[in-house]
Amino acid sequence: MLHAGMTISARDHCLESAVEAIGDTPLVDLRRFAAHLEGRILAKLEYLNPGFSKKDRIARQMIEDAEQDGTLHPGQTVVELTSGNTGTGLALVCAVKGYPFVAVMSRGNSPERACMMAALGAEVVLVDQLPGSPPGQVSGGDLERVDRETVRLVAERKAFRADQFRHQGNFRAHYLHTGPEILRQSGKPIDAFCDFVGTGGTFAGCAAALREANPTTRCYVVEPEGAAVLAGLPLVRPNHRIQGGGYAMPDLLFPQAVRIDGFIAVSDEEAIAAARRLARLEGVFAGFSSGANVAAATKLLEGPCRGQTVVTMLNDSGLKYLSTDLWG
Ligand SMILES: Cc1ncc(COP(=O)(O)O)c(C=O)c1O
Repeated sequence: MLHAGMTISARDHCLESAVEAIGDTPLVDLRRFAAHLEGRILAKLEYLNPGFSKKDRIARQMIEDAEQDGTLHPGQTVVELTSGNTGTGLALVCAVKGYPFVAVMSRGNSPERACMMAALGAEVVLVDQLPGSPPGQVSGGDLERVDRETVRLVAERKAFRADQFRHQGNFRAHYLHTGPEILRQSGKPIDAFCDFVGTGGTFAGCAAALREANPTTRCYVVEPEGAAVLAGLPLVRPNHRIQGGGYAMPDLLFPQAVRIDGFIAVSDEEAIAAARRLARLEGVFAGFSSGANVAAATKLLEGPCRGQTVVTMLNDSGLKYLSTDLWG
């Protein structure tokens, strides 16, 4: 009911589009999950972005940076190699801004992602995995195939390739927004940060922002056990279940540009067990790589960060894995 003196102003609280709803995700203290540990795990609930992953952030930043610097023209087709999440972010940003979008993805990623991108208006091109690569386990070799198809499509369509492995918008999204949000929300300096690396854009952008506020913040790269090549270990298991990263690429552009204080390897089983505990204990329904991150944060609190505060990212929604056995 309207009271005397109240006015209705539809513009006051409305966003101009779903793109404006990207970012400003909550930071949650995982007290129940970490009850048996000395210290705190603070988790950024990135699955609450409109495309249900943190990659919405880079989709918006890469497109808006490219609009500004003139590398993307009005109405030009956008093409991107994706494990599904960047593609979903780009699909929704391109839908709102009026760019045709083509997502190129390995058939090894979960089908929910292809379905969601298509629903958002994207053309989805699925690339077969290498012979012997199991579905749900995308290797660096599988990704090379996707890259070749992406290059072909970019030339054919005279398209703008967002290029998340190289475009500075990836780093800038996290340097300008995710990192500063964590600093604002935690209210105190962060002892440590860890993140499962795909492109490493999140890791590098957050590390740079957190260290600007507190140079002693330690930043740890999370990798799959058996594919921990950034840690300098040999590649013994290229296929793993932690979708969205762990591609065993030793020369990633973004992580090379920042100091890395340490490396944590997480097995599929540890990531799955942690994702399930998160759901049961915290009401947090997130995917494999989020499980990997909280498993890594647990290892930090049991080891070098005992008694301290570790921040990590809950990268995408558990809904993206209903077709897998993550939930039983
Ligand atoms: C579910 C998920 N986790 C982790 C990552 C890795 O993030 P970044 O590319 O910023 O290293 C991605 C990237 O696509 C992802 O989709």
